[in-house]
Amino acid sequence: MKIAVLISGRGTNLQVLIDACAAPAFPGEIAAVVSNVPDAAGLERAFSAGIETRIVDHRAYPDRPAFEDALHDVLAHADAELVCLAGFMRLLTPRFVDRWHDRLINIHPSLLPSYKGLDTHRRVLADGVRLTGCTVHFVRPDMDAGPIIVQAAVPVRDDDDEDTLAARVLAAEHRCFPLAVRLIAERRVRVVDERVVIKGAVAPDASLINPMR
Ligand code: GRF
Repeated sequence: MKIAVLISGRGTNLQVLIDACAAPAFPGEIAAVVSNVPDAAGLERAFSAGIETRIVDHRAYPDRPAFEDALHDVLAHADAELVCLAGFMRLLTPRFVDRWHDRLINIHPSLLPSYKGLDTHRRVLADGVRLTGCTVHFVRPDMDAGPIIVQAAVPVRDDDDEDTLAARVLAAEHRCFPLAVRLIAERRVRVVDERVVIKGAVAPDASLINPMR
């Protein structure tokens, strides 16, 4: 499956997708990495892996539809079958999202539908919840909404600050995103009535309880 990855920043999730696709048995390849930020650090990761990179700078277009048309052309030109938002910091209009219906996925650093939007870790700490996590989901026009493909639960510790919590969640993101892409590339993922059904999926038996004692 041909995959495109959209980034705006450091690209650690891009890196784990690059690494996953490098395995000979992985059922997908990254056809293009696109950044809306010309100096995004993640672009270097794509260069190093020999992947085609494109910059579509939103500031160069008069409005959002014009920017998204340019983005769409790049993705179509790359023959992308799946588009991964990996720290892509632009909201996408319903028109763009609908064009990529069930072919556009996002990773978000919370257990959706809780903690949509930015500053998830700060709000998680303020609320005192003991479990947070991350979510890979199909994108719908509403922000951080859409059928959920993979989630990881991550414990919050009493001595966490935003940085330590973000690092623990990021480690979980790095496991979830390649898993979600692999399941889709293996064509095991279907959306039925706006819920994801995964052929042959195995759910763990154990609950994650925090604290343990
Ligand atoms: C991740 O936390 C992801 O969940 C969010 O943006 C961040 C991107 O990090 N959407 P990176 O650029 O992949 O390192």
